[in-house]
Amino acid sequence: MKKLIFAISLALAASAQAQTVQGNAAAGKNDVFMCEGCHNAGHGYRTAFPDVYAVPMLNGQNAAYLVQALKDYRAGTRRNQTMKAIASSLTDQEMADIAAYYSQPAK
Ligand code: HEC
Repeated sequence: MKKLIFAISLALAASAQAQTVQGNAAAGKNDVFMCEGCHNAGHGYRTAFPDVYAVPMLNGQNAAYLVQALKDYRAGTRRNQTMKAIASSLTDQEMADIAAYYSQPAK
């Protein structure tokens, strides 16, 4: 009986894991072409659209933080017109992939 319970809990743990979206940095590398123009231009970079605005660096940022920021923009709990439009175009998988890519240590 103990063995059976152990087997069941292992199976449950495995299926719970499958539901969390795992970021893939290699896939994210293909998605960030649409972010680079604004976000990878170095410290102190300011965009002229939609307003003159400082753009935060994403390289080296924590993956969970990046995903949360994107979800907040999409949900509207963090307000920025540009980022809302961009975050709304991303799937949860793409957000995780992009976050995995940017959170890699700088090379
Ligand atoms: C047109 C310029 C532009 C593009 C393109 C753009 N961003 Fe942004 N992004 C901004 C600006 C400006 C901010 C700061 C907004 C604010 O103050 O909340 C920002 C903020 C963010 C933040 C929050 C960072 C922090 O330190 O809190 C994340 C995460 C982010 N962007 C991810 C992305 C991703 C991923 C892409 C590509 C899919 C992308 N952005 C494309 C301009 C851009």
